[in-house]
Amino acid sequence: MRILLTGGAGFIGSHISLLLLQKGFDLVILDSFVNSSTNVIKVITSYVEKKSSKCNLKIINGDIRDRNLLEKIFIDSIKDSKPIQAVIHLAGLKSVADSVLNPLGFWDVNVCGTNNLLETMSKNECYSIVFSSSATIYGLPDSLPIREDHKVSPINPYGETKVAIEKMLEGLYKSNINLWRICSLRYFNPVGAHPSGLIGEDPIGIPSNLFPYISQVAAGRREFLNVFGDDWDTNDGSGVRDYIHIMDLSEGHIAAIDYLTSKESCFEFINLGSGKGYSVFEIINQFELSTGVQIPFIIKGRRVGDIAKCYADISKAKNLLNWFPKRSLEEICLDGWNWQKNNPNGYIL
Ligand code: NAD
Ligand code: UFG
Repeated sequence: MRILLTGGAGFIGSHISLLLLQKGFDLVILDSFVNSSTNVIKVITSYVEKKSSKCNLKIINGDIRDRNLLEKIFIDSIKDSKPIQAVIHLAGLKSVADSVLNPLGFWDVNVCGTNNLLETMSKNECYSIVFSSSATIYGLPDSLPIREDHKVSPINPYGETKVAIEKMLEGLYKSNINLWRICSLRYFNPVGAHPSGLIGEDPIGIPSNLFPYISQVAAGRREFLNVFGDDWDTNDGSGVRDYIHIMDLSEGHIAAIDYLTSKESCFEFINLGSGKGYSVFEIINQFELSTGVQIPFIIKGRRVGDIAKCYADISKAKNLLNWFPKRSLEEICLDGWNWQKNNPNGYIL
């Protein structure tokens, strides 16, 4: 089965790519490399070739907003007698802070890019898509754990683009109820790395997320961690989030593809998280315990736009996809540290 994976060179996409290739899928990656390195592709290819003989991978360096290119990708696949049967759509911009500064850029890439992709899929009779949505769409949660039927109320332009895309997908599904197979996966906080230590998260510049920041402190690239607030309404005053191992999240995509292909048509929003909430202090403690490396920190004021607690109800994913997260917080810390330690400067080969 041939799958088009947009954004396949990014943090999440690289882990999904590896898994899909290992499972024998025929994969086409479309990525503009605006937030990733071409080196990740070399690492993935050599890993898969070492473990199994075949690596059915085609890389296209391009933009999801380029309609002619998208059209060519679908047509070329049909000509190869390997039509694209499903799309996993990850390509997009994700920095919340950037979205506040440049909302139009976010609407252009995320929303217009997705519109382009869906039109091309429709034209070429590819009707199965897994989309990467985000827990950010829930905004300030009224109740925890968050279920998929919780109200959607994003508090930044990034989240608004995700909601707009979900609405676009819903409208498309309703336009012809027997045609489309759609899963919108709402990720909580994907962290950690592949257990090989060969691929992982490689943020450009100063990391804005907790885990890569802690890893860089551990590696000596940064002096200390800033803890954004110790006065939140949580067990110890620091922010609580639902951290999910990147390999568990990646397996969720395989389960979603299996689910879609078993259906005549469907449209589902599904949370992917661990279902557990951990505070910043709990993460620091677990990281130190697992790796033996101390993480110096200082307490700073609250970060603008942050919330106290956010964690998922994952029963829908368990029931519908027969998927559940298998890896512990300890494995998250060990695998994340293994990647950082082996690649202190990321994908510089
Ligand atoms: P990432 O930035 O590492 O990966 C995104 C990839 O898309 C990059 O390789 C980038 O080069 C590519 N890209 C960006 N714009 C493109 C364009 N116009 N055309 C083609 N390629 C383009 O991000 P990630 O963490 O892997 O996230 C993947 C998806 O998951 C994103 O849509 C993001 O919004 C969503 N998501 C991420 C998180 C998270 O915490 N990482 C949480 C929830 C949702
Ligand atoms: N934090 C710190 N110091 C840091 C970074 C983060 O104390 O240097 C704290 C935050 O205040 C928060 C927690 O660690 O309490 C987690 O913060 P992250 O930035 O790692 O994660 P967020 O939950 O704020 O946001 C992330 C992505 C969003 C996505 C969301 C839900 O950045 O794009 O997860 O999936 F929408």
